[in-house]
Amino acid sequence: MIDTLRAAFHQQFGEREELRYFFAPGRVNLIGEHTDYNGGHVFPCALTLGTYAVCAKRSDGRVRMYSLNFEDDGVKEFNLFEIVYAESDGWANYPKGVFKQFINAGMKIEDGFDIVYGGNIPNGAGLSSSASIELVTAVLINEWHSFSVSHAHLALLSQRAENEFIGVNCGIMDQFSIALGKEDHAILLNCDTLAFEYSPFWQEGLALVIANTNKKRTLADSKYNERRSECQSALNDLRKDIDITHLCELTVDEFEGHAHLIEDDICRKRARHVVTENERTMKAVNFLKDDKMEELGALMKASHLSLKNDYEVTGKELDALAEAAWRHPGTIGSRMTGAGFGGCTISIVKEEMLASFIEETGAMYQEKTGIQASFYTAGIGGGARELTKEEV
Ligand code: GLA
Repeated sequence: MIDTLRAAFHQQFGEREELRYFFAPGRVNLIGEHTDYNGGHVFPCALTLGTYAVCAKRSDGRVRMYSLNFEDDGVKEFNLFEIVYAESDGWANYPKGVFKQFINAGMKIEDGFDIVYGGNIPNGAGLSSSASIELVTAVLINEWHSFSVSHAHLALLSQRAENEFIGVNCGIMDQFSIALGKEDHAILLNCDTLAFEYSPFWQEGLALVIANTNKKRTLADSKYNERRSECQSALNDLRKDIDITHLCELTVDEFEGHAHLIEDDICRKRARHVVTENERTMKAVNFLKDDKMEELGALMKASHLSLKNDYEVTGKELDALAEAAWRHPGTIGSRMTGAGFGGCTISIVKEEMLASFIEETGAMYQEKTGIQASFYTAGIGGGARELTKEEV
């Protein structure tokens, strides 16, 4: 990857004296879906798949960018003193948004850069290729200027870029887990306080399998924003009677005791998912600590069903893939991961049955949907960083 990136850099931008290299992973969420923007808990981990950037400095306030993942788009260029969203800039709006957030936060960036990006996260699969390019850019800006912004703050700047510049009202999970990922560990994050702890997630004899439905995620952004406002509406109704800031402050029992306050049936279902999912997430972390993998698997299934029935973000492809996995004897647990509306499932599978899991689940899925799924055995890697000389 690095050699290809370097060659592309030389081809697009010529030879340069100082090149620096950066990496940010993708992420997969084990459990805790659509809880982050409701002040709840999530339990994601960073992947060994990710986005690389090679970069050299300029001195004229311009940034030129090229992506190996979108070669047909050619070089995208902008001026640091005038950063505006442009539909025609496509993928390049993500890094542009990050530059803008640094500048808005009062940090001085005047010189400019030439950057080549390239990554191995499947696009549109719900593994956060967008947060990954945001964070690789954030780390690049931070390191090159020696700003010493903490990784948690880089995550917040990147989230703001996505909210304000791109217009997707995402929570903090993706950016945070990508900024602070740790090899072989999942992160239990309280999205209200940003307090977090690492939980070892490596189990002898088990594999973490990501399966891509290969269903194009359509309308995902607008549906995502719609879910957020349904949660907000449920919260507003509840606040007429109880003093809470987020849905996830409620236990399941407290929620059920007040659910009648939510006027709209759909909004009540959305809120029920959020509250039950938050409780499942905290239970799941404890089951993992106590090595109770069967119980963890049952929670993953319950999570999927809640996302299907109450939150309604799965769709027939994700359901078919999860259902096929549940039937396989090698499966400990399986569920959709990420925002939904297409994308991937995450499964914990007994390693000795991995080959048959892939074969049989894939066949059953194809029979039901006519689509061929792709499978990846995921490594859990570290967070966004500059690559050392030894790594490049
Ligand atoms: C997307 C968003 C996250 C989170 C998940 C759902 O990945 O970017 O903030 O809300 O969906 O859990």
